[in-house]
Order: sequence, then C-alpha cells, then structure tokens
Amino acid sequence: MHGARIGLCALAAVLSLGYSQALRESPLELKLGAPAPAWLGKPEAGKMTVLLISSSAPCASEQTRLNLDKRGAALRCVVEKTPAMSGAVILLDAAGVVRAVAPARTDPAALFERWRMGKALFEQACARCHTEDGADEFYSYNIKRLRGIGNRLSHAEILERTNPVPMGPNQFSIRAFLYSKEELDALITYVAGL
Ligand code: HEC
Repeated sequence: MHGARIGLCALAAVLSLGYSQALRESPLELKLGAPAPAWLGKPEAGKMTVLLISSSAPCASEQTRLNLDKRGAALRCVVEKTPAMSGAVILLDAAGVVRAVAPARTDPAALFERWRMGKALFEQACARCHTEDGADEFYSYNIKRLRGIGNRLSHAEILERTNPVPMGPNQFSIRAFLYSKEELDALITYVAGL
C-alpha cells in the first residue's frame, strides 16, 4: 500500500498541475474544451494547430514546424506581450477548440503526440461510457459528464478520479485496462481538453 501511494504521488508530480492552476486563474480566460478567444486566431487550414505564444516571431525552428507537419498538424506563432502567457504552448483542434495548454518549452510535436495517444486510448477504453466527446452520459444516470472537466480540476485531480490502481513500477490499471505512466499522462491530457 505504501509503495502504491508513492507511485501515484510520483506520477502526480509528472503531470503539470501547477500550470493548469495558473491558467485557470489567469485574466485571459483561456478555457479548455471551448472555442479559443479571438486574440488567439483560428487553426491553420482545418488542421490541428499548435500555437506558440511568444514575444517575437519566428517562435520556433524549421525543424519544429516540420515535426508537426509530418504528423499532419500545423504550427503558428502568436505574438503576445502578456507575461502570464509568454511561452505557453496551446493545442487547437481543427474547429478551433482549445484542447491542451502546456508550459513554456514544451515540445509542440510531443504535446500533439500526447494528446493524440490520449484520444486513441480514450476511444478504446472510456468512450463507451463517457461518449466520444465526453458531452453525454448514457451509461448511467450518475455518470459525471467529462466535457469541460479540465476547467474545474487539475490534471492530478482528474487522474485521482479515474482511480488508477498501481500494478507495478510503471503499470496502472483503470477498469481493467493497463497503462504506463506515459499513457496515463496522455489519457489525462486528452480528458482535460474534452
Ligand atoms: C463502465 C463505464 C465507464 C467506463 C468504461 C469509464 N468510466 Fe469514467 N466514470 C463512470 C461513472 C459511472 C462515473 C461517475 C461515478 C464514479 O465516479 O464512479 C465516472 C467518472 C469518471 C471521472 C470523474 C468525473 C468527475 O467529474 O468527477 C473521470 C475523470 C473518468 N470517469 C474518467 C474515465 C476514463 C479516463 C476512462 C477510461 C480509462 C473511464 N472513465 C472509463 C463510468 C465509466
């Protein structure tokens, strides 16, 4: 039991709880799972788009841009002087909904991959009860709607509510599905953006 607790605490530390807290309190009112505010602009050409908030353009190397391009996603710099947002990395879906927000220096392709992995895992293990977009609750009347959950709970709190059971040093189970820390992180990143 003791070992299990330590495993979960270590995992919570890996998840970026401090940052999502700061964003929820930021005056810019960036909401997860909701359309991006106008100052962020639209996604590029109907693609998943990573926005890099920077004080000057260009904001990223050509390699970073290519890494996203290879994956079918786009990159755009948003020049913004607000110190609270400087460096933030924001993932928009093709419809312009904010799906993930990560701290400065997060690799844009890594963020996109994490979200995409989380989406695949969610569709496999969670959507049958929570629905694909987390907006409905057809499994039972007491199911909690996941839409917008990232605005009320930190990553660590969301993780806690999925109730992962430690099965080994890098293995956790949620409702009989087995996940590594990396996969859990991906899953929570995705759920937070529903
Ligand atoms: C068999 C149906 C079922 C499956 C599959 C399922 N859930 Fe749930 N989930 C529920 C129900 C029912 C609740 C609400 C009651 C509870 O907390 O147990 C819930 C609650 C939650 C909550 C807490 C929501 C809140 O606002 O407190 C989270 C987060 C969550 N589920 C995530 C997941 C994830 C991630 C997966 C996939 C790994 C998953 N669930 C798979 C039925 C399911």
